[in-house]
Amino acid sequence: MSESTGSRPALDLEAFPPSFAWGTATSAYQIEGAVAEDGRAPSIWDTFSRVPGAIDNGDHGDTACDHYHRWREDIALMKELGTDTYRLSVAWPRVVPGGDGPVNKAGLDFYDRLVDGLLDAGVTPSVTLYHWDLPQALQDRGGWTVRETAEHLAAYTTAVAERLGDRVTRWATLNEPLCSGWIGHLEGRMAPGLTDLTAAVRASYHLLLGHGLATQALRAAAPGARIGLVTNHSTVAPASDRPEDLAAAARMDGHTNRWWLDPVYGRGFPTDMRELYGVELPEKPGDAELIAAPLDWHGLNYYFPVTVADDPEGPVPYAREVRLPDVPRSGMDWQIDAGGLEALLLRLTEDYGVRELYVTENGSAFPDAVGPDGSVHDPERTGYLEQHLAACARAVRKGVPLAGYYAWSLLDNFEWAYGYDKRFGLVHVDYATQKRTVKTSGRRYADIIRAHRETTAG
Ligand code: IFM
Repeated sequence: MSESTGSRPALDLEAFPPSFAWGTATSAYQIEGAVAEDGRAPSIWDTFSRVPGAIDNGDHGDTACDHYHRWREDIALMKELGTDTYRLSVAWPRVVPGGDGPVNKAGLDFYDRLVDGLLDAGVTPSVTLYHWDLPQALQDRGGWTVRETAEHLAAYTTAVAERLGDRVTRWATLNEPLCSGWIGHLEGRMAPGLTDLTAAVRASYHLLLGHGLATQALRAAAPGARIGLVTNHSTVAPASDRPEDLAAAARMDGHTNRWWLDPVYGRGFPTDMRELYGVELPEKPGDAELIAAPLDWHGLNYYFPVTVADDPEGPVPYAREVRLPDVPRSGMDWQIDAGGLEALLLRLTEDYGVRELYVTENGSAFPDAVGPDGSVHDPERTGYLEQHLAACARAVRKGVPLAGYYAWSLLDNFEWAYGYDKRFGLVHVDYATQKRTVKTSGRRYADIIRAHRETTAG
């Protein structure tokens, strides 16, 4: 044990290798703003956020954190935290505003400057190509329910890789296809706001096909690229030992975890879930191999575990989430359980054979308040961070090849359907003034990073 701070549990920092990457993460629509600048066209989130009632308080990403203009200040914050890597996403509607067709040079110029700024600051960029902001023009032609969208993702990927591939090596194709597929097309709580099982299953298929095609495009355009996929998962527990609840947990695991991992790791789409959905997949010869193209790393986004009971009358997958009493919860009302992170890291390693892993997102929202002295004291977020890093250390000790951790998020930002009320940042943003304030959790993260460097130096 290398570090012990007051009454806090010691953090086993020696578990992490010297090369361990400490980072923060964001995504384009959540922070950039400038939605109509330099040729950017609307995305499905610009549209969805105008649907009455879709977003809390009627919020939208028009200005967000104004990162499009304040990126230098934000890189300075990364330096202040001492992080060595930053996970960002590129906005497809900035680069190819029509979804397919002409590339917008001004859009690429922004990411070019950002990448150079990061590298100048000694911060390694990790670039995600698709974090949910599909050009609206493609949605108008069927969005992810049609195969062409996957092909257009590959063409857009080529444009980005040709421009940034000489400096960016760590690439992810998609962020959390589960959210695009299930929440966007089945539950209707995210853009494009559909509640249609057939559309959702088709979208899920084309998202993973798009991942395969984008991987192929990246390999061709940026031979040095190290490519991964970022997926979000939850551990799933049955509410009881009743056979019906055990079966519900297996279905929820299929819906949340296996559907998104099995095809990527060469097992094809799970048969039990295909039968459950009862929707024919738009498969073509060669697709399975594309979807299972070898990857260099996998990114796990982890926030909470779920407990479910059988729900035969409910929606697919007929498993109702059970709210456990007396468990810690974040401001999202999500159960806090760092053990879930450890379990999922082990599962990806042992069950799916992943050889290089990153925690690409992990974090918590709490209702922060700016104190009279201007500081933001957030002990609950700090505790969440420490518990989850401890879980990472345990996983590494058990053999998980964990290469890095990205805290979600660098900044408070536009939390999708929850708007700006839910704050995940290590840095507080006052949206009226755009003033940034590093929270106590950010300071604690900086201390941990520094202590790890000292622990592993020489
Ligand atoms: O804010 C999101 C992010 O865009 C994707 N992963 C989960 C985060 C918190 O909900």
